Parts: sequence; C-alpha cells; structure tokens
Amino acid sequence: KLPTPFTVPLPIPPTKKPTSPGRYRVVQRKARLEILPGLKTEVLGYDGLFPGPTFDVRSGQTTVIEQVNELDVPTAVHLHGGHTPAASDGWPLDLLMPPGGHHDHGHHSMGGGDVKTGSRLYTYPNAQRAATLWYHDHRMDYTAPQVYRGLFGLHLIRDAEEDKLSLPAGEREIPLVIADRAFDEDGSFIYPAAPDRPGVESKYMEGVIGDVTLVNGAPWPIHEVDAVRYRLRILNAANARRYELAFDHGPAKFTQIGSDGGLLGAPVDHETLLIAPAERFDVIVDFSAYQPGDEVTLVNRLDRNAPVLRFKVARRAADDSHIPARLSTYAAVEPPAGAVRRLWRFRRGSAGGHQGWTINGKAFDPVRMQAQVRLGEYEIWSFVTDVHHPVHVHLAPFQVLSRRGGDPGPYDGGWKDTVDVRPAEVVEVLVRFSAHKGKYLIHCHNLEHEDMAMMAGFETI
Ligand code: C2O
Ligand code: CU
Repeated sequence: KLPTPFTVPLPIPPTKKPTSPGRYRVVQRKARLEILPGLKTEVLGYDGLFPGPTFDVRSGQTTVIEQVNELDVPTAVHLHGGHTPAASDGWPLDLLMPPGGHHDHGHHSMGGGDVKTGSRLYTYPNAQRAATLWYHDHRMDYTAPQVYRGLFGLHLIRDAEEDKLSLPAGEREIPLVIADRAFDEDGSFIYPAAPDRPGVESKYMEGVIGDVTLVNGAPWPIHEVDAVRYRLRILNAANARRYELAFDHGPAKFTQIGSDGGLLGAPVDHETLLIAPAERFDVIVDFSAYQPGDEVTLVNRLDRNAPVLRFKVARRAADDSHIPARLSTYAAVEPPAGAVRRLWRFRRGSAGGHQGWTINGKAFDPVRMQAQVRLGEYEIWSFVTDVHHPVHVHLAPFQVLSRRGGDPGPYDGGWKDTVDVRPAEVVEVLVRFSAHKGKYLIHCHNLEHEDMAMMAGFETI
C-alpha cells in the first residue's frame, strides 16, 4: 500500500557540520528509516541518511572528508562535478573496505586499485565556481545498487560572484533531489539483482525504474511556500529515469539560472524542465503568480503527468530577491582551430565475453585507458548513441557545441558535466582539463549501464 501523494512533508537534508574548519567525518552505515509512512526501509546511508547530509562549502576552500565504512560492502566515493585530484576522485577500484571483512566478492583484486580498510580521506580543493555538485558511490560493478540503497547526497559550492546577486536564500533556497524507487510490501527496496553478482537481470538492460517518486527521500511530498520567488536546486538522482518536470496548472515557469557547472550568463525561461540522470538545474520559480491557498503540483510529463511534488502557497510575503538580467561572466568559448577531436560511441554490445553496454566497442577496462588528454588544451568530443545515454565526464566541465549537427538544445546551456544524449544522436562538446594528472572516467550515468561496463578510463597528462 503506497501513501497518498502530498501527505508527507518535504524533508531538507541536514547541512554537514565540520569537526574542525574544513574537516569532516562521515560514517557510511545501515539505517532503518521511515520512508513510506508506517514502514521501515533499510538503507545504506552516509551518516545513515537518505539522501546523505549536504555539504555547503566555499569556492577555493579545501575540504578533507574522512569517510568511515561501517557497511558490509566495499565503497568508493565520487564527488560528481568536482575538479578533484585523481587520488580522491573515487576511481571504482580505489575501494574503502569495511573493517575486518574479507568481502571478496566483486572485482577489487584485479586492476590494482588503491584499497583502504575502515576509513579513507577524500580531499576536495573546491577550486571551482559556485555550483550544485553531488557525491555518490562509485564502486566497480555495484554503483547502481549502492546508490539505489542510499549512497548519495548534495555538495554545494558558493562563491562571491553568486553572493552578489541577491537570489532567494535561506528557507527560499530549496534542494530537490528526485529519485524513483520500488518497494516491497514490508517497506524494503526492490532491486532486481543478486547481491553478490554484478549487473541486473537481463530484462533491466534499460535500467531500473521504480513506481514511487521520492524527493529528498520522501514519497510525493508537499511543501508550503510563501507567494514569492524561490530558488530550487534540482538534481535527478534516479538510476535510470528521465523527468520532464512541469507545473500542473497556472502561470509559474522555470527560470533557469544555472546548470551542472554553475551560473549561466543570463537566465533562460522554460515551460518544462527535461532532466536526465545526474543533471542539475538551478531554477527560480515565482509563486507570486498564485493566490494564497492555491496548490500547484510538479508532474512528470514523461510518465503521463505522474505527480512528483506539491507546493502549497500559504501567504503573501515581502520579497527582496531578484533575478538579474546578467548572472555571471560566463562566456561561451570558441573552439580553437586544430583542436584534438575524439569520438565516443555509446552502444549496446558484446566485448570479450561481456554482454552489456560498451564505449567504442569496449567494456570498461580499469587498466587500459582509452585516451590520453593533455592538460590545458581544448578538445572537441563527440558522443554518439544507439539509445538514450546520459553521458558524464569526470574532472572538467564542458560546453555543448552542437546536437545532430545543429544548435545545442534548450537545456544544454552553461557548463555541463552530464549531457542527455538522445537515441541515435551525435552531441559535440568542448572540453578542457586544466589541472590534475591521473586516471579519470567517462561513462553513461544510467547507473545500470555504467555497471554493465559502459565506462572508459582516460588519462590526463
Ligand atoms: Cu556521478 Cu562517475 O559519476
Ligand atoms: Cu547508457
């Protein structure tokens, strides 16, 4: 029995407190949480939370996070969107093992990862512009089930440029982490895979979809707002589901101010918001278009207008926020003549006995890198697909240059780190890695595709 939509209040994940300036400690542990009213769900959570706590940090201030594994499975933490040194990037074989365990299932013995037991330090320079980042598990072959069970959370970076804008703040800045899940009658998550074998049952080749929409870990929640402008930081944290968010009625629209990599140059209005797994949209919604007492519901156009979240407009209130016509000094970069070009083909396929998903005809190989990329140089990368693949590049953001040879789409603006590449499409992006030598990843962010080896390593030199 599923709860009646819009009865559970929207939770806001707590902000993580440092143990001393710039230092944090997170315990990865199991917890039994009431996600569906009256039932308990066992989660794997950062600090036992679903989603994990939100890091709220300043640009340019290094954070060192001690991750402690009290689970019964190995983990690897990746800061998605972070310009992170390779040793802290959560390479899928740089595992953090639970203490004392000989949990030898999985592939961690091959490919020579840097394995630690009990706890591990992750260092994030945060030397990048203000943006909505997130962190999540990245364990080789098991990312999808471990994120599904709860290993994900937000990491917000703020800076002086953004502070100057008088955007809605405090209670008027709301994170919306959207993810679908399926539950058994006893409240446990249903994930269609054996716990000790990588990959899902073959009928889930397209990815795992659930029938319950969670926002910040609550099913179809409701949130009371004043009739003023709000800033919504939206993350699609689903394993495989895409959303096209729309308001069920009324004049509200989405004024996009930022994307994966921070502020746009200027705001862009959208009627609906198309958001693929791992993408972030930073939007302003003006509820003064409604009357006190009105209710307005966010629905998913891609799923017969299935409900996502309801806002209840409570009262009129003063509003000193505004949306400036010029948000940032962000500038579109012209690709230099003679830039190195690389082609990345995302296809279903078989490679060396592997049945699943491939990049350039190869299953993920943690030893052989598919490319060597020079730091400091602009490159043009083309992503080519068979079916839908949300393509993600670690370490540096990119700008979308073209889709199908034409202009970028309405949701491609700004600095991106994940781009929704549609079936049989070619998307060209301009990318430049400015710092950190080492091994990094490009992969599909449909997490089932990722676990079925749709991932490739490249080396920055
Ligand atoms: Cu959000 Cu390689 O990951
Ligand atoms: Cu994919």
